Amino acid sequence: MKTLSVEQTPDKIGETVELFGWIDSKRDHKKIVFIDLRDRTGTVQVVGGEDFKELSTEDVIWIKGLVKKRPEKLINSKLKTGTIEIEAKEVKILNKTKPLPIPVNTDGLEIDEEVRLKYRYLDLRRPRMYKNLALRSKFIDLIRQYLFKQGFLEIETPILSETTPEGARDFIVPSRLQPGKFYALPQSPQQYKQLLMIAGVEKYFQIARCFRDEDPRADRAYGEFTQLDLEMSFVEREDVMNLIESMVIDVYEKLKIPIQKKPFPVFTYQEAIKKFDADKFDLRTEEEKKKNIQAFAWVVDFPFFEKTDTGGWTFTHNPFSAPLPKFMNDLLNKKNVEKILTSQYDLVCNGYEVGGGSIRNHTPKGLKAVFEIMGLKEEEINLKFGHMIEALGYGAPPHGGIAPGLDRLLTCITGEPSLREVIAYPMTSGGRTSVMKAPSTVKEEKLKELGIKIK
Ligand code: AMO
Repeated sequence: MKTLSVEQTPDKIGETVELFGWIDSKRDHKKIVFIDLRDRTGTVQVVGGEDFKELSTEDVIWIKGLVKKRPEKLINSKLKTGTIEIEAKEVKILNKTKPLPIPVNTDGLEIDEEVRLKYRYLDLRRPRMYKNLALRSKFIDLIRQYLFKQGFLEIETPILSETTPEGARDFIVPSRLQPGKFYALPQSPQQYKQLLMIAGVEKYFQIARCFRDEDPRADRAYGEFTQLDLEMSFVEREDVMNLIESMVIDVYEKLKIPIQKKPFPVFTYQEAIKKFDADKFDLRTEEEKKKNIQAFAWVVDFPFFEKTDTGGWTFTHNPFSAPLPKFMNDLLNKKNVEKILTSQYDLVCNGYEVGGGSIRNHTPKGLKAVFEIMGLKEEEINLKFGHMIEALGYGAPPHGGIAPGLDRLLTCITGEPSLREVIAYPMTSGGRTSVMKAPSTVKEEKLKELGIKIK
């Protein structure tokens, strides 16, 4: 087993050590050959002789060698291991590589993205990509630590499920046991988390995968993305906002990521539109952009409904939201619909909408009124949302929540040009999976089993 990593070698001067890794680069000076050995913690210079001749970059090797202090004038201050080098005694090639289809010693952004994603396992070898994966892991770790300290439970909810409307198309999965019927992959765990509040859980969170069939953009992953999904009982709008704000500040402080303003400024939707002509905006100066400062803000008081093309009403954010308390009567009476404001709060950072949530309608009549305003018939409401309306009737506590998008937060922190740089295996913009060739065709007999015929 590997017990020593490259970054630990400067502490081992005078010792014989064993190292495992890849050959990052090789410089052949006839009698002596230098290689940079790379593992996930960095690179270290190793000096060898004849037996190094057969090594090529990206071969996987094991070496045994003596850690030596470099003479003063050869110290490389840019390298974590720049004060030492290793004099190899033995070397073994564990796996010889073929020439790589893409370089892995550049930042990779110059390479066609389809090719990068086809060879994602190589693409991820670049230190920049490893750093992003490591940051993501640490980020989630700190979020968990914070929420567990506040008494939250982490609970998984189903992936094979029924549609939850978040405004995108569903991915559907055919059922074999009930041919002609389909599951939908959740666009978010919205309904399940509300049902957990009815179950009495009070404080829930989940690092949740969400599935949405919508056109990809730099800030929108195609297919799937990850939310920190969260819900709490017996709270008002400010309680959820305060919890998330404190969590973000705590996590960012631990990661030493500077935040522009604390507490986060709050804008009403009207103010945001007047000032920025948009409900997401970038509050940073050019100087702050260079320093990668994170500028958070809240946007509140959105209209609940907007007109559809056909002259009806649809929700602007989330049909499960409650209106602001003073508009509850209008909602229940379906009056002044255009004036009703929702309890929705959006979290904005550096020009992205990085999260959104609301206080929910916790009474059956409140939720029903939303669907009625949207013109849904009794039968349709019962078919699609009967289970929610029924459940709200069994002593549902007042509750609310939020779901910050992890991919967007990490894109802001890293300053990467696209969400795909902070996701291990994102889909291509054409909707193809990294490395593997999904979506793909299936055998005729499999389709038959599912009762499906391709036209
Ligand atoms: P919403 O649909 O606003 O709310 O999503 C919440 C957050 O998820 C992120 N997000 C995305 N990130 C990457 N790619 C996408 N395609 C994508 N779509 C959304 C954004 C967004 O702010 N159930 C509600 C939350 C709630 O009310 O608790 C919901 O899903 O950062």
